[in-house]
Parts: sequence; C-alpha cells; structure tokens
Amino acid sequence: MEGSVFCEQHEIVKENGIPRNQMSKLKKHTVAASRAVMNRLVMPEDSNTLGTLMGGVLMHWMDMCAAISARRHSNSYAMTVTVDRIQFVSSIQLGEVVNIESEVTRAFRSSMEVGIRVIAENLKTGKKRLCTSTYYSFVAVDTDGKSITVPEIIPETDEQKKRFRDAEKRREERLEDARRMQNMTKEFDSNR
Ligand SMILES: CC(C)(COP(=O)(O)OP(=O)(O)OC[C@H]1O[C@@H](n2cnc3c(N)ncnc32)[C@H](O)[C@@H]1OP(=O)(O)O)[C@@H](O)C(=O)NCCC(=O)NCCS
Repeated sequence: MEGSVFCEQHEIVKENGIPRNQMSKLKKHTVAASRAVMNRLVMPEDSNTLGTLMGGVLMHWMDMCAAISARRHSNSYAMTVTVDRIQFVSSIQLGEVVNIESEVTRAFRSSMEVGIRVIAENLKTGKKRLCTSTYYSFVAVDTDGKSITVPEIIPETDEQKKRFRDAEKRREERLEDARRMQNMTKEFDSNR
C-alpha cells in the first residue's frame, strides 16, 4: 500500500505517516462520508407468487445498506436497534432494479440514526419511482456487544442540517417506545 510503514512483524502500523489507530480521529465524519448505495436486480427467488418483490427481502436489503452506513461512520460493529414505520407505496416487479441509498443523519453517544430510501428502476423505460423511505437506528458495539462512543457527524447541506435537527424528536419518540417495550418485557417475565 502506498505510503504504508511496516513493523518487524510485517503489520501495518502507519499509513502516509499517520498511526492506524488515529486514522478514524482524523477522518472527516460528514454525512456524505457515511453514504452507502446498493443496487439489486429483482430475481425470481426474491419474488412472491404475483411476481413482485417480497417485503421481507427488501427489508433485509435495507438493513444491510443502512448497516454499511452505520459501520462506515463508526468504524465499528453496529447492531440494528429500531426501524421506524415502513410503508410500501409501490410494488417492485421481477426484473426491475432496486436502488437503496442510506446515510447517517445524526450520531448521539453510541447510537446513530440512518436515513434510507428505496427507488425502483424500470430498465425498459428508464423510469424511477420512490417506493419507501424510513429511518433505522443502530448502536455501535465492541466485540463483547457493549455500546461504544461514536464520532460526531457533520451535517453540511441545508437538508442534512434539517434532518440532523429533527432527529432529536424522532429519538425521543423511539425512547418512549423503548420504555413501553421495557414494561411489556417486565410484565411477560412476571407472568412466567
Ligand atoms: C443495542 C443494545 C446493545 C443496546 O444495549 P443497552 O444496554 O440498551 O445499551 P446502552 O444502555 O449503553 O444504550 C446504548 C444506546 O442505545 C440506545 N437504545 C437502547 N435501546 C433503544 C431503543 N429501544 N430504541 C432506541 N434507542 C435505544 C440508547 O439510547 C443508547 O443511545 P446513546 O448511547 O446514543 O445515548 C441492546 O439493546 C441489544 O443488544 N439489542 C439487540 C440488538 C439486535 O440483536 N439487533 C438485531 C440484530 S443486529
């Protein structure tokens, strides 16, 4: 690798003169840097008996794309904690292309909100349409599954700044849901 320095054990310790363990501190953690794009062609095994993409398959692809954004931002493992409401407004046909785009909209202490949108593309007509859009939240964890601190994110455009501001309210709503879930868990445990 250009500019890399190897130690005696042939392990890379520096890249372009910067110690590897300090690279993430120097990286600019912009929203754009967390961006992930995934393209999938809908195949028969992804479809239901009507020849349209199954919702569960799409949700799996969305989770993968959003996880890439979260991991790209945090440079760590990331676990999905919540998925906001998903509405499928347009079905996606066998043979169409699914474009999934995601980016981290806001980072808190260890959690990150990831905005995601899905666009279907008809290869015959070239037409594209928005199929769904939602937010995921991920928590950065170490190898023991313990939450760890993530870098702050830098919103740059007006749209990114708005999503960054609005993320606070969405987080509050998720934490309110989490409290409801906690009560349900306690009730379940006490009835066993
Ligand atoms: C994610 C997980 C490790 C967090 O554990 P925890 O004990 O709540 O950890 P912490 O108390 O340190 O909280 C970590 C963060 O998660 C957030 N969080 C926890 N539960 C949440 C929920 N239900 N909704 C939204 N955020 C939540 C906390 O607010 C905190 O955010 P912050 O650090 O940015 O302030 C744990 O909930 C877990 O393992 N969940 C299962 C995840 C999973 O299996 N996902 C599917 C497969 S990848």
